Amino acid sequence: MSRKPIFAANWKMNLGPAATESFVRSFLEKLQGQTYPAEIVIAPPFVSLPKLAETLHGSAAGKEAESVQIAAQNCSDKDPGAFTGEVNVLMLRELYVRYVIIGHSERRSIYGETDAIINAKIKKAREANLKPIFCIGETLAEREAGQLETVLRTQITGGLQDIAEKDMLETVIAYEPVWAIGTGVTATSAQAQDAHAFVRSVLTELYGAETAAKIRIQYGGSVKPNNAAELMACPDIDGALIGGASLEPQSFLDIIVNGTKVQGS
Ligand code: PGA
Repeated sequence: MSRKPIFAANWKMNLGPAATESFVRSFLEKLQGQTYPAEIVIAPPFVSLPKLAETLHGSAAGKEAESVQIAAQNCSDKDPGAFTGEVNVLMLRELYVRYVIIGHSERRSIYGETDAIINAKIKKAREANLKPIFCIGETLAEREAGQLETVLRTQITGGLQDIAEKDMLETVIAYEPVWAIGTGVTATSAQAQDAHAFVRSVLTELYGAETAAKIRIQYGGSVKPNNAAELMACPDIDGALIGGASLEPQSFLDIIVNGTKVQGS
């Protein structure tokens, strides 16, 4: 079984439209003539999505641009209507968005998103044929209390309640230990592999071994050019969700280059 790794830049609340345009121009220039055995995804803030779409799909873009997919960092679980400040999945489709990050730990901890809300968002995303990047992960206190597996199992079963197998095949899971996000502390490759193997075992219980073997599980949390190769060499790690180190075109590209060298080796 081979899973195509997926490297996604999560810019969080950074890079407005002007900075997005210069990032993409520089990134495409660096990509020139190179192809990597991976999917490349960029998730800018909502307001930068039109500029990202225009820069990637405009007439000036070369064929390198075709290898870059657009993601949103969040979506509403509602249909269009009176929901001040929200963005619905149909609007995202209009901007060539293909992926949507759902349930990031910052959304869970700062904005109070529960497993039930996350589940509703995954369902709404799939109605519009968007591919969810469904984030899960434990805090340091939970890990130290020996609750890693319980926490991950609860997040997975809650987030994926009533999600059909065909929709799971279009869903990516991002395992992001909260203590490794933005801290410079990365999980060791053994810690990450153990957690990924556990996530895949829960997916096997829910969807069967054949489907579970096809689902991509990204690692996220202080991924950098110098640790990408080691993490991506793990058998159950299928790419990365990258925050801080994705804000510079060269650093994002170096992660992809280093992370794909090891694939299949
Ligand atoms: P980080 O963020 O790479 O800055 O740790 C990862 C994420 O939150 O997706």
